Amino acid sequence: MAEKRRIVTGDRQVQESSYENQLRPQTLNEYIGQEKAKEKLQVTIAAAKQRGEALDHLLFYGPPGLGKTTLAGIIAHEMGVNFRVTSGPAIEKPGEMAAILNSLQTGDILFVDEIHRLARQVEEVLYPAMEDYAIDILIGKGATSRSIRLNLPHFTLIGATTRAGMLTAPLRDRFGVLQRMEFYTQAELKQILLRSAKVLDVVLDDQAAAELAARSRGTPRLANRLLKRARDFAQVRYDGDVTLEAAQAALSLLDVDEKGLDSTDRRLLSTMMTVFGGSPVGLETLAASLGEDSGTIEDVYEPYLLKEGYLSRTPRGRIPTRKAYEHLHIPMPADES
Ligand code: ADE
Repeated sequence: MAEKRRIVTGDRQVQESSYENQLRPQTLNEYIGQEKAKEKLQVTIAAAKQRGEALDHLLFYGPPGLGKTTLAGIIAHEMGVNFRVTSGPAIEKPGEMAAILNSLQTGDILFVDEIHRLARQVEEVLYPAMEDYAIDILIGKGATSRSIRLNLPHFTLIGATTRAGMLTAPLRDRFGVLQRMEFYTQAELKQILLRSAKVLDVVLDDQAAAELAARSRGTPRLANRLLKRARDFAQVRYDGDVTLEAAQAALSLLDVDEKGLDSTDRRLLSTMMTVFGGSPVGLETLAASLGEDSGTIEDVYEPYLLKEGYLSRTPRGRIPTRKAYEHLHIPMPADES
């Protein structure tokens, strides 16, 4: 059976890239939110430019959909250099990484998404590349083999990961800047939606923008995804403008509730309450019970539920909070401790 598509995941979905690319801002000034990161980057970029040097290697970490790729692209644009994009799972052999590195020009930015998923031997190619701008290549076989060092142009590696904790220490230590990506406020999401509507040449009224923003789990990728669905609704069922009514119709069909939780979030919380009786439950047990991947629960579903206080982590496992019981209208068990 095909896996049910989940509208509220921050994960990038197939066929979403061109829509996303169309909406990506090109400059730091156009980029909304992540104020701390932007300020730091502005200084770092200006300093590197003044010195005529390549930017320090940067690591962006945080839940999916918060603008890591967008920000990396903006940095390349602001630095006036080429932007090369790849991802951890896409590079299978050390030779492939060496070839990519060898094709870079001075100052270029190499963006490696999901960098925690690089194969160990591939990752090892990066160590001297990041530290000394060089790669070591083994030539010949057996007793006559020797390693030669190939110099690389000064480039910048930008890594992105949903979990900084999964990076090996030698890799993490080679980044000059570690930047955490934060969830966006509703006001920021509203601004992003209004900007996106302008780019898409669709009328989005203020109330509709606020409604979509409130249900986007602090995540621009989701906000833009909901806007796309609401635009379809507005076009087919209404007069083409995204009004509050059109937005609400789209949201209700997508099963996204007033807090931005979808059926899977609610299933996750209700399973904790009913199957496990609200007692602490381990990630693997919960994942098995839901038929979901534990890494996906941890990276994609949990961060927002934790941030909004629907669940909390204890040393013995996850527990649903009072807020979660109230949201789902399930009575909270009496405290037996
Ligand atoms: N589209 C997606 N993310 C954005 C952001 N942070 N600012 C502006 N537009 C965006």
